[in-house]
Amino acid sequence: MIKLSPRLAAAAALAGRGESVIDVGTDHGYLPVYFALNGLFDRIAASDINPGPLDSARRSARGCGVEDKIAFYLSDGLKDVPETFGTVVVAGMGGETMAGILSGCPWIAGARLVLQPQSRVDKLAAYLDGAGFACKRAVLRMDGGKPYLIMEAAAGAGGFDPARALTAGRDPLLGPFAERERSRVQRALAGMERGEAPGGGELTALKEKLERLDTILKETRKWQN
Ligand SMILES: C[S@@+](CC[C@H](N)C(=O)[O-])C[C@H]1O[C@@H](n2cnc3c(N)ncnc32)[C@H](O)[C@@H]1O
Repeated sequence: MIKLSPRLAAAAALAGRGESVIDVGTDHGYLPVYFALNGLFDRIAASDINPGPLDSARRSARGCGVEDKIAFYLSDGLKDVPETFGTVVVAGMGGETMAGILSGCPWIAGARLVLQPQSRVDKLAAYLDGAGFACKRAVLRMDGGKPYLIMEAAAGAGGFDPARALTAGRDPLLGPFAERERSRVQRALAGMERGEAPGGGELTALKEKLERLDTILKETRKWQN
């Protein structure tokens, strides 16, 4: 049996059930093994860019007796995956890497995505927004003392705005999550002001992000009072 951490359990809950799923960057393979053990998808795949993690996923599947229910692909993103999937899970990677993986896949517009970025949510959100995805659901979960954002995206109107979904749901972890993001943005801004990184459009984008985070934080403080 597999006991998922709160972060991966939230990703599994958003993935739900369906016809087909792939876990990209699977590493230990806990998600595909969980899907297989619980009979949640008819077709299940796991992929990784590195052979070591893919072997680790195979071992997890073998240990749970579900190796034959999962297809394993050694692939950079979805480039060498020879099938299409209704649900694509990408968890535990930086937002920029995730945007690169998704943008390189010709059939991604028709898929439902479950995404858990470790960093640069802004980069991932900008890609999803431009590619015509809407944020269907977003949740925050504490895991190992840190808040993680997990989102479901699918083609739709209205733009990709996880903050709107979290604010509407009055997620109690939105305050701590926005505080962490705010500190990161402030550090990046301070670095730019010291001349450590190029400014220009990036500087304007960061200032806008800081304003947006301040608005979110003001909103969350209202709920607490
Ligand atoms: C930190 S682990 C996350 C594992 C698991 N998805 C989770 O959330 O617990 C990141 C995994 O992504 C894989 N990875 C990184 N870049 C990748 C890419 N471009 N395509 C596929 N896998 C990638 C790494 O080899 C590693 O196994």
